[in-house]
Amino acid sequence: MLNVYITGAGRGIGLALAQQHAQVGDRVFALVRDTKKSDELSQLADGSGGKVTVHRMDTGDLASIPDAAAATGSDSVDVLYNVAGNTGPTNNELETDIDWDGWDSAFDVMVKGPLAVLKAFLPRMHEGSKVVNFSSQLASSTWPMGGYYAYSAAKAALNRLMRSVAIDLKDQGIIVITLHPGWVKTAMGGPNAEITPEESASGIRALTQDLSIADSGDFFKWNGEHHAW
Ligand SMILES: NC(=O)c1ccc[n+]([C@@H]2O[C@H](COP(=O)([O-])OP(=O)(O)OC[C@H]3O[C@@H](n4cnc5c(N)ncnc54)[C@H](OP(=O)(O)O)[C@@H]3O)[C@@H](O)[C@H]2O)c1
Repeated sequence: MLNVYITGAGRGIGLALAQQHAQVGDRVFALVRDTKKSDELSQLADGSGGKVTVHRMDTGDLASIPDAAAATGSDSVDVLYNVAGNTGPTNNELETDIDWDGWDSAFDVMVKGPLAVLKAFLPRMHEGSKVVNFSSQLASSTWPMGGYYAYSAAKAALNRLMRSVAIDLKDQGIIVITLHPGWVKTAMGGPNAEITPEESASGIRALTQDLSIADSGDFFKWNGEHHAW
């Protein structure tokens, strides 16, 4: 049984991860910014006999993260999934005003937030703990499209940030990766996406289970393949 911590666990891929880890008997700490918002998560917790608990954590409210992590108790952290994300501004910012507040939110939630969450839980990690950070194919230099400036910049920053963190934690045996979860049918991915949240979560769980310290710092796809930087 693993102790699994998931930000953004109320819907989308985070919820599917919570459901699947609960199904195999893991202890799930579901971290959400509004503990009442997700009926599906509440039902999962209510039927879990205490194996799934829901805790408040707003990954964009950086100052609140240490206390939010402490409020989850003192259990060890075997797996931390940094899932929470937003699209950032989606308009063409070469033709409209740049939405700097949207940029700040993108970088808070998807760059600074994952670092703050990792740091807050670090004292409860051990050799073999795994930190899985949700990046995107838009972070890669091989992504052929323009647009989504804040989002792609934030995810690229996350990749490089977490490579540095992985290097610094290697001696402690803590494994840190980034991944592209696939193009997934969620509020973010939209209905035309290629895979379901369940398929994405299933692939990510298998990848996570097989990770070793030799993988730390790398960028993966949801199906276990390496992703180009
Ligand atoms: N879907 C895709 O095709 C795709 C592709 C590449 C990468 N990704 C990445 O995969 C991750 C999950 O995406 P998804 O498709 O599952 O998205 P989603 O369905 O839109 O869910 C986003 C999740 O992030 C949470 N969140 C947003 N801001 C937050 C904050 N300040 N504090 C805490 N939680 C916050 C949301 O919580 P609320 O319910 O409170 O809003 C929600 O649970 C994201 O990092 C995304 O960038 C997704």
